[in-house]
Amino acid sequence: MLGAGTMGAGIAQVAAHAGYEVLVHDPFPGAWSRARDRIDTYLERQVSRGQLDPGQAAAVSGRLGTGARIEDLAAAGLVIEAIPEDLELKRDAFGRLDATATPDTVLATNTSSLSVAAIAAATTRPAQVVGMHFFNPVHAMRLVEVIAAAETGEPAVAAVEEVAQRLGKTTVRAADTPGFIVNRVARPFYLESLRILGAGLAGIEAIDLALRAAGFKMGPFELIDTIGLDVNLAVSQSVFDAFGEQPRYRPSPIQERLVAEDRFGRKAGAGFYDYDPGDGSRRGPWSGLPKPATPMAATEISARVLATIVNEAASALEDGIASAADIDTAMELGTNWPHGPLAWGEELGLGAVLATLSRLATTEPDGTYAAVPLLRVAAGGTGFGR
Ligand SMILES: NC(=O)c1ccc[n+]([C@@H]2O[C@H](COP(=O)([O-])OP(=O)(O)OC[C@H]3O[C@@H](n4cnc5c(N)ncnc54)[C@H](O)[C@@H]3O)[C@@H](O)[C@H]2O)c1
Repeated sequence: MLGAGTMGAGIAQVAAHAGYEVLVHDPFPGAWSRARDRIDTYLERQVSRGQLDPGQAAAVSGRLGTGARIEDLAAAGLVIEAIPEDLELKRDAFGRLDATATPDTVLATNTSSLSVAAIAAATTRPAQVVGMHFFNPVHAMRLVEVIAAAETGEPAVAAVEEVAQRLGKTTVRAADTPGFIVNRVARPFYLESLRILGAGLAGIEAIDLALRAAGFKMGPFELIDTIGLDVNLAVSQSVFDAFGEQPRYRPSPIQERLVAEDRFGRKAGAGFYDYDPGDGSRRGPWSGLPKPATPMAATEISARVLATIVNEAASALEDGIASAADIDTAMELGTNWPHGPLAWGEELGLGAVLATLSRLATTEPDGTYAAVPLLRVAAGGTGFGR
């Protein structure tokens, strides 16, 4: 493992749990001991709950080691990188890994949004560089998106899939495009909700309630408060930039304003909602948000958000990002949605989805609500061929 932060520690832990010998390198003082403490706390909790016996916990712990230098990772069969989301930092690390690792070693990146090809280009072995995108928290989230860049070879993809499956994960294959599957198809859940809020059509509580009623485990605003407004905004911004600033991916000015005011969500004690400074429990919506006197009907809110999600999933399918089955699996496991978006669209009726988009497109002619051609074809009777 390269990097012992949130993701590096999580991946190291599940790999050791699955029986792999894991060596972690993180050059920053204290990073490994913090990771080790987190892992030990997790293992102790599992033991106290009877989910692991003390001998197993000790064995997991014993399979985890640290290397002081990047060269210490040289003999690994697979190196998974989870250092900060910065292309130059990752390219530098991959160049150094390439110079030290054995020729057969596969190099995987846990990047959420950078181009795997751009990282692979820093090495002399692009056929052995793969995207291996885990989700947070690693021990709980079952999905791994496996990303083959243009030059990635099938043996490296298959090797990474095999490892992910041995870690108990379900893999989907995604093309090397902005946001891969999950971070792209999830955008409208947040962005359409933010547009409804921004247009003064409903407040955050009404929107959260409407989407819970539609089947989501959390509403978009309570979820953004949990993820962090800054983290969620950074993903929206990177997808918007990478797609040439297409209007449907435009980050929300309201969210930008809250981030500028340090309202980062639960972790800051203030986000879309206010939180009690004592026990951290949620209070009401922040007083600075629009508060319509008569909110839009819940069914209209969910119809709008679901229509934009189905359209985005159809767009990803049309662009060849992944198979229909993998798009649905990725969204069920990567975001805990109750249904995959393509299946959900068919269940709602693709004609109804199209009608909602057409109605919205008449009031917003910038292309935000333009139905993609594949959705029109599918609505014509073929479905998505899942
Ligand atoms: N946090 C998430 O929810 C999440 C989910 C999926 C993917 N990711 C991706 O995983 C990667 C890591 O994210 P994170 O949240 O774990 O970050 P983090 O900030 O928690 O951890 C990064 C770690 O990398 C270390 N580091 C910095 N430069 C290094 C270098 N040159 N060599 C080795 N270690 C170095 C830091 O000391 C730190 O411990 C990013 O690419 C991120 O986009 C994050």
